[in-house]
Amino acid sequence: MNNAEHISVGIITVSDRSSRGEREDLSGPEIRSWAERCGHIISAEAVVPDEFDSIRDKLIAFADAGIELIFTTGGTGFAQRDITPEATTSVIERHAPGFAEAMRRASMDITPHAMLSRAVCGIRKKSLIINLPGSPKAVRENIAVIEKALPHAVALLRGSVRDCAS
Ligand code: MTE
Repeated sequence: MNNAEHISVGIITVSDRSSRGEREDLSGPEIRSWAERCGHIISAEAVVPDEFDSIRDKLIAFADAGIELIFTTGGTGFAQRDITPEATTSVIERHAPGFAEAMRRASMDITPHAMLSRAVCGIRKKSLIINLPGSPKAVRENIAVIEKALPHAVALLRGSVRDCAS
């Protein structure tokens, strides 16, 4: 079996208003529902403000805890406080551009605003970090693009499969 099962998932909602309790977080639960449908394990969830240090520290904590697949949602756009891609870039050790490329390419068929997402994806230790845009709709649409590749990506990071031919 090449593909990883029961992936441990971490979810970080990046939103000033949700972190202050002023807006219900609908996007984190959207990721949670997807993960539960897939049979994955929700290992940790957090809501943080659009602050570089808060995002960076949470990403490091989740990766250090051995969470295999870490999603962020929000803060990838052009607004003044959108800083998620920069915080993510500061913690990743290797880039995984194919995921962000695939999400933007497929999303362009849905909305031209897809090109406003500056999402980055990469690897820290054995964790794959995926930036998603902030709306529940964008979360659904973007996860649908990458979900088929995630188990093999995690299997490679686990070392349970060494190459794609085996
Ligand atoms: N991608 C998909 N598939 N569907 C969407 O609705 N919204 C876009 C884009 N990507 C969207 C999408 C919009 S409007 C923006 S501004 C950017 O994601 C960044 O969103 P964020 O700032 O909430 O992270």
